[in-house]
Amino acid sequence: MKYSFAKSIEQLESSAVRDILKLTQGSDVISFAGGLPAEEFFPVEAVKQAYIKLLDSGKNALQYGLTDGYLPLREQICQRLASKNIHVGPENMILTTGSQQALDLLGRVYLEQGDVILVENPTYLAALQSFRSYGVRVVAVESDNDGMNLEDLQAKIKAHRPKLIYVVPTFSNPAGRVWSTERRLGLLKACKMNDILLLEDDPYGEIKFDDQAEYPPIISLDDHPADSPVVYLSTFSKTVAPAMRTGWAVADKRVIQAIGKAKQAADLHSSSIDQQALYYLLGDFNLDEHIVKIRHNYKARMQLMNDLLAEKNLPEVKWTKPAGGMFFWVEVSPQVHTEQLLKMAIKEGVAFVPGTPFFAETPLTNTLRLNYTHTDEETMREGMNRFAKAMNQYLTAHV
Ligand SMILES: Cc1ncc(COP(=O)(O)O)c(C=O)c1O
Repeated sequence: MKYSFAKSIEQLESSAVRDILKLTQGSDVISFAGGLPAEEFFPVEAVKQAYIKLLDSGKNALQYGLTDGYLPLREQICQRLASKNIHVGPENMILTTGSQQALDLLGRVYLEQGDVILVENPTYLAALQSFRSYGVRVVAVESDNDGMNLEDLQAKIKAHRPKLIYVVPTFSNPAGRVWSTERRLGLLKACKMNDILLLEDDPYGEIKFDDQAEYPPIISLDDHPADSPVVYLSTFSKTVAPAMRTGWAVADKRVIQAIGKAKQAADLHSSSIDQQALYYLLGDFNLDEHIVKIRHNYKARMQLMNDLLAEKNLPEVKWTKPAGGMFFWVEVSPQVHTEQLLKMAIKEGVAFVPGTPFFAETPLTNTLRLNYTHTDEETMREGMNRFAKAMNQYLTAHV
């Protein structure tokens, strides 16, 4: 059979890096590659009780649900969002199969072949893949530790008339950055003035290492949700468990309705058994306390990785200590090509993600991303020893 796949799927082809990382699964390679939460902190018992309670509640638990998602859960999420100064009703929200699906469906309903979208530099790799499958051109805006450079943003809006701007303003993936309020306001203003949709992706906002710090979501800085340019996405993946595949989009009703139409075509609705279990979980389990616990544990892991990186004293290695989220973004000596380094690292028994695929345009090939949330102390120490060994070998062989 000669299969004739659609052109759009070419953009979705598995990358060489992904193929290499796949080989490490099930081996004794220590992986700092995935964006995985730590299994030891999953609230297994509470989740189990939630499913038991749900299944005890009757046969309806197993019935089809609404495309927009289980209404009582949407109401609970709206209540939680109010504490972030996001004041919306369930009609402004759709539940999706992780926030990844919301990203993809928004692309499907809003983007057309040839449109331009702007992103941070670097940005979330799976968002790039999803947007590119809709035939758009992705342009990177110069970015630093405070967010997008507003001058470059203005210049690129003028030059490209983008339809959508995608940002992860609180603990970005991969760079772990937090935007200043000034940059958040600047971006919002630019989007409002130019009728550009602002896709604010916030999976990591709750994973902040200073419990008192405030990082206002961009949507909270605008009159919302009606007529706002902002579409806000978040998820239970990093706070409860990614396996429950429950995320949400918040926006003007017209945007939610359009996403709903695309969702009907895609999957009718996301798993309603998981949504109902989450509803029971939020009723019976103190999620806020649980989030504080993961924050503290992840902060300790982040600190350990920070100290280990410093201890190894690797030449020309630079990083910024993240204030939350799950990643270190590391710049190494300009002579090191991190895709090549990965091959050596895997031989030494450690994996990371090279930086190249996170860049929409010209990549910095001497960058890489390290996840610190998934490995315990002992494994992290051993993994960082292997990382340092691989780096020193690389430098000896290539420089
Ligand atoms: C920036 C960003 N957005 C979206 C997602 C998707 O998360 P999920 O679909 O599990 O909600 C991730 C996952 O790692 C992410 O890093």
